[in-house]
Amino acid sequence: MLATDDLHAPKGESATFDLSTYLTQQQALVEAALDSSLPVTYPEKIYEAMRYSLLAGGKRLRPILCLASCELAGGTVEMAMPTACALEMVHTMSLIHDDLPAMDNDDYRRGKLTNHKVYGEDIAILAGDGLLTYAFEFIASNTQNVSAARVLQVIAQLAKAVGAAGLVGGQVVDLESEGKPDIQEETLNFIHTHKTGALLEACVVCGAILAGAESETLQRMSRYAQNIGLAFQIVDDILDITATQEELGKTAGKDIQAQKATYPRLWGLEESKVKAQQLIDAAKGELATFGEKANPLIAIADFITTRTH
Ligand code: IPE
Ligand code: IPE
Ligand code: MG
Ligand code: MG
Ligand code: MG
Repeated sequence: MLATDDLHAPKGESATFDLSTYLTQQQALVEAALDSSLPVTYPEKIYEAMRYSLLAGGKRLRPILCLASCELAGGTVEMAMPTACALEMVHTMSLIHDDLPAMDNDDYRRGKLTNHKVYGEDIAILAGDGLLTYAFEFIASNTQNVSAARVLQVIAQLAKAVGAAGLVGGQVVDLESEGKPDIQEETLNFIHTHKTGALLEACVVCGAILAGAESETLQRMSRYAQNIGLAFQIVDDILDITATQEELGKTAGKDIQAQKATYPRLWGLEESKVKAQQLIDAAKGELATFGEKANPLIAIADFITTRTH
């Protein structure tokens, strides 16, 4: 979980909006909802493994984006909370699997040992499977005051974002590109927009769908999300080089070691920072027509480039 003093409100248009307080409040709501979403029952080991990673902290950016976009589009936190929790379950699955020896082989995540280091690879794979499938059950069984048609649309949107057309496809090209000397910009963009951008886009779009947003609003919010999604992974690549393990809660310097296809590798650190900032500016530009209502999403966009972990 983020320390409050890490979350200074960024300078610029959103300086009047207190992002630090907002994030702290939303994180508390999300933590409580996640904690009660997954009780331990027989066979206890798998529920404990799922809870170990789900409740290990993290910025909770994906659920917070979903709640914020639902509210911007006129909905309530209550309407979006089951989907917000599901998004964090899916994200946590992707982290557990990403850390496996067969993938990035990481020992630390969110300041703790990775799931497979504690429970073994077999249970870590199954904990990921359990979280992924439970996410969809959780949306279908717990969403209230939203029509069945909208819930179905959310489920379809999330499934597409996480499958081979989204996160899974991005992870495949990420792994295939390891160690290759000449990565093309197009390939790098494919990796980042799919492994990371697709789920972040689903967070924003699903929140807006739950609120019943019109198609023009949905498209605008989707463009906002595509921009912050790519920026988010560029900054993750930058922080892998510039931040420490203590700051990140995960091993630093892994990307160079594994010869990953990253923005800094293709463009250098400074140019990567410029590109991330351009994407954030473009994202904020999409929200200009919403006025003050968009303050949370604008401040979150700024947070993506100012964050330290
Ligand atoms: C890490 O995501 C994985 C990426 C997609 C880069 P976050 O940086 O949001 O991780 P947590 O949820 O805060 O731990
Ligand atoms: C992660 O990309 C993307 C997903 C987990 C889907 P990274 O491999 O760069 O994420 P970290 O750096 O391990 O968090
Ligand atoms: Mg990876
Ligand atoms: Mg990784
Ligand atoms: Mg990374």
